[in-house]
Amino acid sequence: MTSQPLSSRKCGPLKGTLKVPGDKSLSHRALIFGALAVGETCIEGLLEGEDVLATAAALRALGAEVERSSDGVWHVWGRGIGGLRAPDGVLDLGNSGTGARLLMGVVAQQPIRAVFAGDGSLQSRPMGRIFGPLSQMGVSVVAAEGDQLPATLTGPERLRPISYELPKPSAQIKSAVLLAGLAAPGITEVIEPEVTRDHTERMARAFGAEVEVSQQDGKRHIRLTGQPELVATSVTVAADPSSAAFPAVAALISQGSELVISGVMTNLTRTGLYDTLLEMGADLSFANEAEVAGETVADLVVKSSILKGVEVPADRAPSMIDEYPVLAVAAAYASGTTVMRGLAELRVKESDRLSAIAEGLKTIGVNVTETEDSLTVEGTGGEVPGGGTIATHMDHRIAMAFLVAGTAAKSAVKVDDGSFIETSFPGFTDLMNGLGAHMERVNR
Ligand code: S3P
Repeated sequence: MTSQPLSSRKCGPLKGTLKVPGDKSLSHRALIFGALAVGETCIEGLLEGEDVLATAAALRALGAEVERSSDGVWHVWGRGIGGLRAPDGVLDLGNSGTGARLLMGVVAQQPIRAVFAGDGSLQSRPMGRIFGPLSQMGVSVVAAEGDQLPATLTGPERLRPISYELPKPSAQIKSAVLLAGLAAPGITEVIEPEVTRDHTERMARAFGAEVEVSQQDGKRHIRLTGQPELVATSVTVAADPSSAAFPAVAALISQGSELVISGVMTNLTRTGLYDTLLEMGADLSFANEAEVAGETVADLVVKSSILKGVEVPADRAPSMIDEYPVLAVAAAYASGTTVMRGLAELRVKESDRLSAIAEGLKTIGVNVTETEDSLTVEGTGGEVPGGGTIATHMDHRIAMAFLVAGTAAKSAVKVDDGSFIETSFPGFTDLMNGLGAHMERVNR
């Protein structure tokens, strides 16, 4: 992919009603469950970002039929649990950790061999967290370099159900084990000391799987019964709260702004950022709550606000794990200090986000202290100097967060490569410019 530098300069008020693309987590899962079900699954509102398209391509290579009709609805004809075939080529998941990790659980379901690969960012991310539990279930894993991709996975003749306590709060690990567990005889159990996004459990149920959730000794136990037949269904993908975070924070920091972001998913395992922004004094509310395909949604109404620094507790991290880059930008505009703890997982996202955020804030003139697992941002009281060029490290959320920073900074903020925004938020700069932002391509 050729890199695309972008810049964002101070704009007037951001105004309007908008819809952000479909949720990335739900989109991957809708395609995957469709491919494991019998019959036709119709998906409305699928995120057509590169990450999700990579999952669609991988599922086709595994033998599912996946098509988009001209009305934008996606149709998946699944092959049943354990019914996929060995792909001819490598499964290249590009930049997508979710696609790669969840599909490992899917490949585990049948005795086929598949080689997983990705781009430079994905191939440097840890995969041992998935190889470990899947090996316990009987999957053979051969990785080129320790716990990284490329790696070859071969499903066993007969999967073993396991009881597995998550060593880290990761919905991707949980989902890989549960997806594999669909094909294992008996009960596969995942124990979560900290709650992570629960879309896999919800969607498994919507497709007819038996999933029981209980609370024991302060931990969440998810018990899934293997070898059911999943039944195709219709899924409507709600708007992504992680994507809505970018226009929302832009509106908070740009004076006179008022945005309505419609139909945003409000699943409580995903809304930690909004709780934090409210604590910071944001004028933000949710209206018209409704339920769409087993998930709650609402219109997010956000107006520019004077923000103050807060302490963000470590136990909130799983419910806002993708939102720290843009929260750090909000913190830079606040008055006072914001401390964010429990961020070790940020080091193994699409980039080492902890250091990418710290490096980026320094570039735009904001004081920041980084430790192994925390970030302390000294707010400027709305006076962010800006200027400089941000190194995005192949990370879409670093690119979008710093373009948001530019909307109210004294000097324009440049990002060295906005091309990765396509992985999760196609049309981001056009949408923002339609609301009043000034984001444009710059020459390399
Ligand atoms: C995701 C889980 C999170 C998140 C990622 C999407 C998912 O990753 O960062 O963007 O869809 O399950 P971890 O499970 O590694 O925390």
